[in-house]
Amino acid sequence: MRAAVYDSYGSAADVLRVAEIDRPDPGPGEVRVRVELSGVNPTDWKSRSGATARPINGFQVPHHDGTGVIDAVGAGVDPGRIGQRVWTWKAAAGSRWGTAAQWSVMPSGQAVPLPAAASAELGASLGVPAITAHRCLFADGPVEGKNVLVAGGAGAVGHFAIELAKYFGARVAATVSGPEKADLAARAGADLVVNYREPDAAQRLQSFAPEMDRIVEVALGANLELDLAVSGPRTHIVDYAAEASDPVLPVRRCMNANVTLRFVLIFGVPGPVLEQAAADVTRAVEAGALTELPITRFPLEQVAAAQDAVEASVVGKVVVAP
Ligand SMILES: NC(=O)c1ccc[n+]([C@@H]2O[C@H](COP(=O)([O-])OP(=O)(O)OC[C@H]3O[C@@H](n4cnc5c(N)ncnc54)[C@H](OP(=O)(O)O)[C@@H]3O)[C@@H](O)[C@H]2O)c1
Repeated sequence: MRAAVYDSYGSAADVLRVAEIDRPDPGPGEVRVRVELSGVNPTDWKSRSGATARPINGFQVPHHDGTGVIDAVGAGVDPGRIGQRVWTWKAAAGSRWGTAAQWSVMPSGQAVPLPAAASAELGASLGVPAITAHRCLFADGPVEGKNVLVAGGAGAVGHFAIELAKYFGARVAATVSGPEKADLAARAGADLVVNYREPDAAQRLQSFAPEMDRIVEVALGANLELDLAVSGPRTHIVDYAAEASDPVLPVRRCMNANVTLRFVLIFGVPGPVLEQAAADVTRAVEAGALTELPITRFPLEQVAAAQDAVEASVVGKVVVAP
């Protein structure tokens, strides 16, 4: 099969190549997916560059997310799954068989039936971002009737955080850096969209909700002042991203607010929690509550350019077609 592979860390142009390699067979408890689209996330270029290096077992096919059809199952998996159209998550976690290839294999639970009305692009966009958004929203309980602030509401995680929070009954405010992203956050359903660079950002968020229940945070250091302006004893600030340098915590101000800080990295979240997240995400897709961001599509041969586009923070989602 044709697959993107790398066997050492470095720039995309230096280490990522497309090669003909043997098609994998599913092991016990696994399914094989004929990949239609592979979704690219920041974690993919960070792993490949060595910034957040993961051990390479001979070679690595990158990317966790994708859409495709199950065409073989391993021992212990219902053969009735063959022919199912699925979306995948965490395919390359602890495995060399990511989705940037014509076929990928993964544990059966990480290939989830994709509702018929959902596009391949949406299916390939869900994995890492939607599951992260779900964990950030629900790690501290339901959000129905709660006030949620989503920082960076036009990012991939931010987008699904807005849509999932709305679907599960929250009031949602989002921050963005400019009009194009404001439009995306509004279309995702945010009740209020605020430009975090404008001087009245805190005031506008305070008039929406003086004390948020959740803050889904992409840049804790940059936004802590803004977050504390709408924080109190009920607030959980849930940070899912590391910035270029770690912030210094204003401990007294955090104490004054009685705020709770939580950190999320989906690769360390227990499996059953992630499976529940995948089930909830699928339910939201089925209900038509999750939508695509603008899509930039690359052929497999241009996988290096696809990863570079994600590293350069292209707006929307990048997908690769094998
Ligand atoms: N912990 C986990 O399990 C996990 C899972 C998924 C992703 N991540 C990490 O989370 C980050 C985002 O991932 P993604 O896929 O959502 O990336 P993305 O699609 O590029 O979105 C990032 C968004 O953050 C916004 N942003 C940057 N600085 C901001 C600030 N100070 N305030 C508000 N918004 C800000 C960006 O827009 P502007 O710059 O225009 O504001 C952009 O819209 C990456 O670092 C990724 O590695 C972690």
